[in-house]
Amino acid sequence: MAPGAGGPSSGAGGAVLRDMVSRELAVLVLAAGKGTRLGGGDDLPPKALLDCLGVPLLEHVRRALEPLGAAHTVVVTGHRAEEVERWLARAWPEARTVRQVPQNGTGHAARLALEALPTFEGDVLVVYGDVPQLRTDDLRALLDAHRASEAAASLLTGVTPEPGLLGRIVRTPQGAFERIAEARDATPAELSIQEFNTGLYVFGAAHLRHGLQGLGSGNVLGEEYLTDAVGAIAATGARVEAVIAPEAGALLGVNDWADLASAVAILRARICTEHMRRGVRVTDPATTVIEVDVEIAPGARILPFTHIGTGCRIAVGARVGPFARLRGGTVLGPGVEIGNFVEVKGSTLGAGAKAKHLAYLGDADVGPRANIGCGVVTANYDGHEKHRTTIGADASIGSGTILVAPVDVGAGARTGANAVVLPKKGVPPGTTVVGVPARALPPKADSGQDAAVTKEQPGEST
Ligand code: UD1
Ligand code: CA
Repeated sequence: MAPGAGGPSSGAGGAVLRDMVSRELAVLVLAAGKGTRLGGGDDLPPKALLDCLGVPLLEHVRRALEPLGAAHTVVVTGHRAEEVERWLARAWPEARTVRQVPQNGTGHAARLALEALPTFEGDVLVVYGDVPQLRTDDLRALLDAHRASEAAASLLTGVTPEPGLLGRIVRTPQGAFERIAEARDATPAELSIQEFNTGLYVFGAAHLRHGLQGLGSGNVLGEEYLTDAVGAIAATGARVEAVIAPEAGALLGVNDWADLASAVAILRARICTEHMRRGVRVTDPATTVIEVDVEIAPGARILPFTHIGTGCRIAVGARVGPFARLRGGTVLGPGVEIGNFVEVKGSTLGAGAKAKHLAYLGDADVGPRANIGCGVVTANYDGHEKHRTTIGADASIGSGTILVAPVDVGAGARTGANAVVLPKKGVPPGTTVVGVPARALPPKADSGQDAAVTKEQPGEST
């Protein structure tokens, strides 16, 4: 702060604040790493694109960074770069990409990224791309602290009894930041340090350029470490602020499946809490998974062991679960009830429709007040393509019915238990069909439909 400044409201403080606001920001996101500790496997996407509650890891990072309104964003790709760049072009078009080949460490990655901004003179925020639980507020706190202290570099640290493979923060006897000792290269004394590097840093651009020059790779991994650049800046006598974050345990990178599970658990709890604060009745957040970008009206109820995919919309008065699975993009109208062991995918259910037990609704449009009996299946896949099913208002689909798509069931129509409605045949409005393949019941003048079903289906157990 300027000498003699009395605080943010005084004249000099105001100037500092203006400077803080006007200083340009560049963001470097390092996402070239291989994710070696994930163990590999044919179906594994590059680490940056690992699914995390319905969107890639990197999308969470993008969302945390977006409100900062950085003038420049550079994402470093490397391992399976084409796939990551394809995603970036679509989902993060403002980001410039820089390829790092070979991936010779975080310091090397940061150096290449900064070379893409040769004349930039503002603040450079460096973020690792494997921290999905990152919050905008954490980054703002770091930026504000950095700008207020006028440090050359600032980093966020945390304290935990067992920092494992994380870099340790080495301080001088006076408590000033000295350097970061990577766990793999650390002495036993350094390993016993409980303060660790979260991997979130802000640098003055010139200081970072300087720090990244001449990084060695004489360490266990034979890589250039960004952490060494921080130490190099401190060694010049410039000020480096290591700011301890209260909940830094929630800022750790995803290196293996246990880390991903911890990150997902943190995000999951946050998402459930947000919905509950808005009036959604989530009975047991510990067993409820609500992915990102789900809309749930206040007053709707989500019962335990329920999984709700990204893009689902759930209207007022709806009740989902326990043990229900709504896959991406499902839309439930007001008062809809989805009960236990019901899977719904790519479907829309109108107001008051119900599917309360053991059913699969895939690619279906279900009209208002329709009742889907126990064990109903929409057979939407013929082995090659997916097809849609429509079920009209007030229809009643009997237990165990299979609707083989594409098929339309008209308004007010009924199917008997275990009916199999063949593709394209459909059920006209108001009619009742039974059997395999399902056929219409002849209208009976003197008795109710239930009696007729028994007569038509002598073999059916009662
Ligand atoms: C890093 C830090 C460590 C810190 C920890 C916090 C270094 C040397 N160590 O360790 O001090 O405690 O994060 O989570 O920085 N990457 C590249 N190019 C590369 C290598 C990595 O872009 O050549 C990217 C990765 O994709 C990843 C990030 O940089 O997103 C961090 O790399 P990672 O190997 O996960 O570093 P850590 O061992 O976790
Ligand atoms: Ca990491």
